[in-house]
Amino acid sequence: MKTVKIAILGLGTVGGGTYEILRMNKELIEKRTGIDFRLVRVLEKNKARMEQLGIDPYIAVTDPDMIFKDPSIDIVVEALGGIEPSSTFMEKALLAGKGVVTPNKAAVAASFARLKEAEAKGGGRLRFEACVGGGIPALTAIQEALAGNEFTEVMGIVNGTTNYILTKMTEEGLPYDDVLKDAQAKGFAEQDPTADVEGIDAANKLSILMTLCFDKYVHPDDIPRVGISGITMADIEDARSKGCKIKLIAGAKRVKADDGTETVEYSVKPTLIPFSHPLAGVSNEFNAIYVTGNAVNELMFYGKGAGALPTGSAMVGDIIAIAKTL
Ligand code: HSE
Repeated sequence: MKTVKIAILGLGTVGGGTYEILRMNKELIEKRTGIDFRLVRVLEKNKARMEQLGIDPYIAVTDPDMIFKDPSIDIVVEALGGIEPSSTFMEKALLAGKGVVTPNKAAVAASFARLKEAEAKGGGRLRFEACVGGGIPALTAIQEALAGNEFTEVMGIVNGTTNYILTKMTEEGLPYDDVLKDAQAKGFAEQDPTADVEGIDAANKLSILMTLCFDKYVHPDDIPRVGISGITMADIEDARSKGCKIKLIAGAKRVKADDGTETVEYSVKPTLIPFSHPLAGVSNEFNAIYVTGNAVNELMFYGKGAGALPTGSAMVGDIIAIAKTL
């Protein structure tokens, strides 16, 4: 049986979830792929976390270069979070010809060109399905099954924390601050919830969606954005009286000017969504990506956008996809 050696940088929620799936479904994955996936190195200081996951602390390193310079390692899972040093670590792994799998939307969105350049230069392969919509395989679908389409619009509910807050405010009349604390306790929120509630996390994800749907890279900082921290119960009631729900929408669409030139308009902002629209039915921490292609028409991907196993599911799918090409 073919063996593929993996290193994981960071055993937090997603790094740990990825490992758990590889262990939980080991036999099934081996049967399906004919590949024995072996975790051979981790970059992790927290010994208790390794113990909790049943990982031998002997495989832990403190110097990440020991991973990038080890030719026997095939795939690096980067799950540290944050733009740096994650971008540099992914770049090093790609330049060393390794596969790289990441859920790190902040790093992928901010460093997209640099990572693609390293991929081309070093012969490595970057996959980042888990960056948008957690377990929802929308990015692979956009790049593969839907590759024959010209996309005209993409609208996403791509942040579970804000969708959870807005849902609880709308359906249970609960105050914003209480629901935010609840979302943090449930582990949906980013370390600093400002990234969620001010739309920064959604802007990172929209930057990635736009690159794939429209071949148009926009740095997340250049995406106009309004978060949900200013949304009041009065706004929610006002929306309800108009037959709408307020959703934080990360959206982009092609627009044709009178002279025939085309541009793409994009933003992250609280948006009134009519009750009859499929996105209005996306509640709690669930995510959805609603795309319109000129051939397929309207299509919605729906599922869990956060959490160890849902996000780990996308990670393992990417690991398997890369391993099959090795
Ligand atoms: N904080 C993010 C969310 C995690 O709430 O959706 C998943 O990217």
